[in-house]
Amino acid sequence: MIKKEDKLWGGRFKTRTSSIMERIGESISFDKELYKQDIRGSLAHAKNLLKIEILTTIEFEQIQKALIEIEQEIESGNFQYKLELEDIHMHIESRLTEKIGLPGKKLHTARSRNDQVAQDVRLYIKDETKEILKLIYSLLEVIIEKSKSHTEMIMPGYTHLQVAQPIRVSHYLLSYFWAVGRDLEQFLFAYSVNDLLVLGSGALSGVNYPTDRKFIQEELKLKNISENSIDAVASRDHVLNLLFAICQTLIHFSRISEEIIIYSTVEFSFISLPDSLTTGSSIMPQKKNPDIAELIRGKSARVISNLNHMLVLLKGLPLAYNRDLQEDKISLFDSVEQVKISIEGIREMIHEMKFHPDKMINSLNNGFATATDLADFLVSKKNIPFREAHEYVGKLVSACIEKKLTLPEISLQDRKEISEHFATDEYMDAISLEKSADKKNVFGGTSFERQNEQIKNAEHKLKFWKEKILEVENE
Ligand code: ARG
Repeated sequence: MIKKEDKLWGGRFKTRTSSIMERIGESISFDKELYKQDIRGSLAHAKNLLKIEILTTIEFEQIQKALIEIEQEIESGNFQYKLELEDIHMHIESRLTEKIGLPGKKLHTARSRNDQVAQDVRLYIKDETKEILKLIYSLLEVIIEKSKSHTEMIMPGYTHLQVAQPIRVSHYLLSYFWAVGRDLEQFLFAYSVNDLLVLGSGALSGVNYPTDRKFIQEELKLKNISENSIDAVASRDHVLNLLFAICQTLIHFSRISEEIIIYSTVEFSFISLPDSLTTGSSIMPQKKNPDIAELIRGKSARVISNLNHMLVLLKGLPLAYNRDLQEDKISLFDSVEQVKISIEGIREMIHEMKFHPDKMINSLNNGFATATDLADFLVSKKNIPFREAHEYVGKLVSACIEKKLTLPEISLQDRKEISEHFATDEYMDAISLEKSADKKNVFGGTSFERQNEQIKNAEHKLKFWKEKILEVENE
C-alpha cells in the first residue's frame, strides 16, 4: 500500500487510505483507456502554462519529452498500474514526477481533475466518433452495392409478418440505407455538440491563473469554448448524445438482425449466410446458426441499458462534479466498443448474404401478394366499385385456399365461376409480381424505375456525408 504522503492529494490527511476506499475509488481498471487523450490534454495544458509563465521553456520541454515517453511506456505494456493511484490522471502525473522531478509537480497548476477528466472524455468521444462515422460510411457503401445487384429480384414485403405486397429486394435493402443514414446524422450531431474546450474550468469555478483558453482551444483543435465553468464540469450531455446515437443504431441493427435470423430459417429460406459467418452446434450436426445476428440483437439490449445507466446516474445529481460521474466511462466505453463491432458484423452479413428468389416467389404466391392489384385491375379496367372488387378477389382467394392453388395456378373455369371479369387474358398481367411492383411508381415506391432513381439519390446523399466526415477528419 502507498504511504499517505505519496498520494497526490495527501497533504491534509493524517492516516492512510483504507483498502476499501482504494478499491471502491479506483477507476484505473477502466479509465486507462483514456491515456492518449489525457496526454494530449496535458501537453496542451503545459503549453498554456509555458505561455502564462508558470513553466520555463526548459521545464516545458522536460514535461513534453517525458509525457511522450510515458505514452510509449503505456503502449508497449511497460507501464506499471497501481490501484492506490486511483485513475489514469494520477498515474500519468505521478510517473511524470518520478521521471523528471520538480517540473512534473508543476503540471497540475491551474487544473483540476474535474476539468481534466471532462476534457479527456470529450477528446475520447471525438476520436471514437470519427472511427464510428468511417465504419458507418463503409456499411452504407455495402448496402448500396448490394442494392445495385438486386433491383430486379422480387421478395415479399410484410405487414404483421404476413405476406403483404411484392417489393424489389433493392427497395428492402435501401430501407436500411436511409435508416442507417439517420444514424450517421445522429453521430455527426453528437460529434458537434461534444466539440468543446472545458479546460480552464478548474474544479468548478474557473482558475486563479490567466489561462489562455483560446490558445488551448486551438491547440486541441476544438470548435467551441464552454461558457460556464460549472456546467462544463457537471454536464455529461455529450455522453448521453453519443449513447443515444449508439442506441438508435443498434435498434436498427437489431431489427435487421431479426430479419436475417427469420429469413435464414428453413421455413423462410429467403437468404443464406456463408459458413464463415455462422457457427455449428456441438451436438446437432445439421445446424448452421446466425450467431452474429443474434449477438447484435443481444448487444442492442446492452447499449440501451448503458444509456439508461447514464440517465439514471445523472438524474437528481447536484452541481457540480460528484464522484458518481466517475462511472460514466464504463457505459461509454462499452457502448462504443459494441457499436463498432456491430457495424462490422452487419456490414459483413449484408455483403455476404445470398437471396433465394424461388423461395421468395413461392411465399408471394402462397400469400396471394397481388390480391390488391387484382382488385385495382377490376376497378380501373372493368369499372367495378372497389368494395365489390374486394369481395370478388376475396372469393377467388378463398377458392384458391380450398383447392390448394395460387392465383396464377387456379383454372380459367374456376375464375369464371366467381366473376366473368377474371376470365380475360389480362388476368395474368394483373396478378404479375413484377408488374405489381412496377405499378408502385410514385417517388419512393418499389417500381424498377424508382429503384435506379433511389440508388442515385442514395449515392448522392452518401457523397454529401462523405464530405461531412472529411470535414470532421481534416479539421
Ligand atoms: N477519476 C475521476 C473521474 O473519472 C477523476 C475526477 C476526480 N475528481 C475528484 N474530485 N475526485 O471522475
